[in-house]
Amino acid sequence: MSATTGTTMSTTSHNTPAAVAVITGAARGIGLAIAERLAAEHHAVALWDRDAAALDAAAQRLREAGARVHAIPVDITVRAQVQQAFEQSAAALGTPTALVNNAAILGRSGPTLDAALDDWKRAFDVNVFGALTCAQVVVPPMVAAGWGRVVNVASVAGKDGNAFAGAYAASKAALISLTKSLGKELAEQGVLVNCITPSAADTEIFGMYGEEEREALRARLLARVPMKRFVRVEEVAEMAAWLCSARCSFSTGAVFDISGGRAVY
Ligand SMILES: NC(=O)c1ccc[n+]([C@@H]2O[C@H](COP(=O)([O-])OP(=O)(O)OC[C@H]3O[C@@H](n4cnc5c(N)ncnc54)[C@H](O)[C@@H]3O)[C@@H](O)[C@H]2O)c1
Repeated sequence: MSATTGTTMSTTSHNTPAAVAVITGAARGIGLAIAERLAAEHHAVALWDRDAAALDAAAQRLREAGARVHAIPVDITVRAQVQQAFEQSAAALGTPTALVNNAAILGRSGPTLDAALDDWKRAFDVNVFGALTCAQVVVPPMVAAGWGRVVNVASVAGKDGNAFAGAYAASKAALISLTKSLGKELAEQGVLVNCITPSAADTEIFGMYGEEEREALRARLLARVPMKRFVRVEEVAEMAAWLCSARCSFSTGAVFDISGGRAVY
C-alpha cells in the first residue's frame, strides 16, 4: 500500500518541536482514537496496522482533520516489515519521538486446561514479541536523541487474569513486565516507558465471537466494573496522550489504571 501524507500542523509547547508518534494497531478502535488524540496534540502520526483497507480509511479520516499522516500496512510479528515501516515513516514524518504499542489480539477463548500451545504462542507473538520488536526498532533513535515516550497498551486482564482468556491475560502480564524492565533500563536516557491497563472497551476486538457469545462476554466483563460501563476509547486516548507528552516527566516503568474501579492494585 502506498504511503499517505497530509498537511502540516503547527507545533505546541506541550510536545517536542517535531513530535512524531508511531501507533500500532491504529486502523480502528483504541489505536485510532489514540492517533486522533495525538494528532490533535500536534503530533505527526505514523499509523501501522496489518489491515490495509481499514488503515486507508483511518488515514483518510485523519488527513481530513488536518493531520500529518503516514500509513503503512505492517504485521508487527514480522521484524523485516517493522524495520521497513520504521524507515518509511521516519522518511515521511521525521524520526519518531513516541511509540504506542497498541496492536494486539484477544486470541482464542476457552478453558485454559484445554488450550492449544499454538494459540498461546500466537497471542504472545503479537501482544508481547510484536511490541518488543517495535520497541527494539523504534526506540534506539529516541535514546540517541535523549528524549522519547513509549506507551504500551496492556489490559486490566494482565493484572487480574481473565477466566477463559488465559493466553490474552498472560500476554498482557508479560507486556506489563516488559514495560517495567525497559522503563528501568532507560530511566536515565530521557525515554519514559509506561503502560496503561484499560478494562473492557466496546471495540472490534471481540469481533470473532457471534452476537450471542459477544453479549454474554460483555455482560461478564461489565459485571466486574464498579462504574458499570465500558471505557470509552477517547478516555484511553486521553491517558495515552499525556503519557506521550512532556507533561509526563517523572513516571516510567509505571502501570496506569483506567478500569472504572475494577483494578484493586
Ligand atoms: N477492547 C477492549 O476491551 C480492551 C481492553 C483492554 C485493553 N485493550 C487493548 O487495547 C488495544 C487495542 O484494542 P482494540 O479493542 O482497539 O482492538 P481492535 O481489535 O479493535 O484493534 C486492534 C488493531 O490491531 C491490529 N493488529 C492486530 N494484530 C496485528 C499485527 N500482528 N500487526 C499489526 N496490527 C495488528 C488489528 O488489525 C486492529 O486494527 C489492544 O492492545 C488491546 O489488548 C482492549
